[in-house]
Amino acid sequence: MYNPFSLKDKTVLVTGASSGIGRATAIECALLGANVIISARNEIRLNEVLNELDTSQGQIHQMIIADISINEEIQKLVEQVDSLDGVVSNAGILSKFTPIKFINEHDLAETMNVNLYSHVMLAKNLFKKKKLNKGASYVFTSSIGGVTTHVTGNSIYDMSKVAINAFAKSCAVDFASRKIRVNAVCPGMIHTPMTTPDGALDETDFQRDIDTHYLLKRYGEPEEVARPLAFLLSDASSFITGASLIIDGGMSVIH
Ligand SMILES: NC(=O)c1ccc[n+]([C@@H]2O[C@H](COP(=O)([O-])OP(=O)(O)OC[C@H]3O[C@@H](n4cnc5c(N)ncnc54)[C@H](OP(=O)(O)O)[C@@H]3O)[C@@H](O)[C@H]2O)c1
Repeated sequence: MYNPFSLKDKTVLVTGASSGIGRATAIECALLGANVIISARNEIRLNEVLNELDTSQGQIHQMIIADISINEEIQKLVEQVDSLDGVVSNAGILSKFTPIKFINEHDLAETMNVNLYSHVMLAKNLFKKKKLNKGASYVFTSSIGGVTTHVTGNSIYDMSKVAINAFAKSCAVDFASRKIRVNAVCPGMIHTPMTTPDGALDETDFQRDIDTHYLLKRYGEPEEVARPLAFLLSDASSFITGASLIIDGGMSVIH
């Protein structure tokens, strides 16, 4: 059956897959036929996601526990995978909201370590150790904060995401020799445990932000990022590389 969006027979690694956007992406990729390797630190939540992945097309899924803030664990993760057709480099943390005069080295290092350095080291090692198949698709989860800034106190997080967008473009240039495409997605506010730690976002608290900044008058759902991510992994996006795809309900248009 004609379906350029299919991920059948592709093997895809998703980091940060125990929650939020990564979890939704792993589920979407499996539904589209991919063999999915999910990774994160929390074994219980990762196991729950593994059990949610569709296997009706004979897909084989795997989970790898790794703390990507630790270089040795990145090396071990890389050793455990091979022949990847797709990567969603997605794990991330939201740093504490801090006015610039209160920034400290610990918070800066912590966020940069997870949101930037780990992604750089994972991409470097997967490419260097030839774990990425010719024609593979590599996607980073950046943020609208990597494109435009409208929240005070978010400079550390925003810097990490600006850098990821730049790194994605550099990878697109370097990896093109092996026909590997590299892109980034830049979501606006999405309902995930990152933005709703207690699982109950009261949108009235955010109504002014929604009314002022979001053309679609709501925040997004994880699946609304997962599907564009799956598109970028698929052959339907075969001429897209070096792009940073904004997924923000029109927020940046009117900001
Ligand atoms: N939600 C939003 O509004 C939004 C907007 C723009 C961009 N983003 C980006 O989207 C990505 C996913 O965020 P989310 O909203 O889905 O957040 P989330 O629900 O908190 O998920 C974050 C994921 O990253 C993993 N992770 C965090 N630190 C890790 C580490 N040291 N090693 C390995 N895995 C680690 C977590 O797994 P464990 O805890 O199990 O390790 C979890 O699976 C992030 O890069 C985030 O910056 C989110």
